[in-house]
Amino acid sequence: MTDLLSKFDPLIHERETLLATGVKDPFSLVMEEVLSPTVAICNGKETILLGTYNYMGMTFDDDVREAGIQALREFGSGTTGSRVLNGTYAGHRDCEEALKEFYDMDHAMVFSTGYQANLGIISTLAGKGDYVILDIDSHASIYDGCAMGNAEIVAFRHNDVEALEKRLKRLPADAGKLVVLEGVYSMLGDVAPLKEMVRICKENGAMVLVDEAHSMGFIGENGRGVCEAQDVIDDVDFIIGTFSKSVGTVGGFCVSNHPKFEILRLVCRPYVFTASLPPSVMATASTSIRKLMHSGNKRAHLWENSKKLHQGLRDLGFTLGTPEAQSAIIAVIMPDLEKGAMMWQALLAEGLYVNLARPPATPANMTLLRCSLCAEHTSEQVDQILGMFEAAGKAVGAI
Ligand SMILES: Cc1ncc(COP(=O)(O)O)c(C=O)c1O
Repeated sequence: MTDLLSKFDPLIHERETLLATGVKDPFSLVMEEVLSPTVAICNGKETILLGTYNYMGMTFDDDVREAGIQALREFGSGTTGSRVLNGTYAGHRDCEEALKEFYDMDHAMVFSTGYQANLGIISTLAGKGDYVILDIDSHASIYDGCAMGNAEIVAFRHNDVEALEKRLKRLPADAGKLVVLEGVYSMLGDVAPLKEMVRICKENGAMVLVDEAHSMGFIGENGRGVCEAQDVIDDVDFIIGTFSKSVGTVGGFCVSNHPKFEILRLVCRPYVFTASLPPSVMATASTSIRKLMHSGNKRAHLWENSKKLHQGLRDLGFTLGTPEAQSAIIAVIMPDLEKGAMMWQALLAEGLYVNLARPPATPANMTLLRCSLCAEHTSEQVDQILGMFEAAGKAVGAI
């Protein structure tokens, strides 16, 4: 018998080698208690959270929690069915209404996760014989959507406008083309030049889908994302997003003005062949989305936090993923996995949680300490965080 798990031997070896150095497993941390969007108890110690995607701090919002509790009482714990059978409750429809209001668009479709939204929409739109043109650093769910649909993948260099144009011009003029972009790329926290890219897509007859997972709620005047900030929201064909970041719960969606959009509900397999989200989740999502429409002050504070952390880390001598703060993600580049894991552990010992990211999830084989800020972090917490980075960085020789 061939052991089908033996292909993972190199990874098992790498993990064992790392743990043998005395570093704790950075991928099995437990949040023993969560006190607020910015503080949890980890290993019995009060820890500042700087590695969640809770950008707008909605997880503990009183109205959001209350809406969830009420829906749980009134509608029960789950739907036990697909959206196209018994799994569409009033709450699912209301959540889609909330998304249409939020984006000022004609159609919205809610999925059980953002991963499934990308998987479903991309695989349904682009089938055999069609082309998906994507940024090489695209999220796994985008690649998986291409694989599931069997479309031809054409990747271009990260955020490179000319490379995108060259690839598009080489494709047959009459072929189906879907360009998939992200507003904010989650590893380095950098923003896409959507203005130029969307123009080029239109000039070359391609439809455009933008994944705004890391920008919804925060970037743009109304929090609609990078498409709004760069004034291309009316030119993109589909926006994909998630409820697992700024919205503060779980779920995914696609919004669009395409007149034939509603047919996707019948042909999109990751929408049809899975159970719909529990009504309590729908109620928390709708409440959160509607509150995010009027959260200009929180957006402004989150920008202050992000800029302050970026400047402070740079002043301490760390190498960062972007020359200035472009989003709520600040990536600290570590020389290698071993140093990254040591630094991660030293920060945790100080009382700070950040994300350790490593290949293959990262671009160019980088090891990153990814910091994501929250609108609920106080300015004093950002000062504390910088102090912790200084102490940990000196202790492990990273600065
Ligand atoms: C760009 C991007 N798209 C989609 C997703 C998937 O979102 P979800 O957590 O809702 O599955 C993520 C999650 O990290 C993401 O970063």
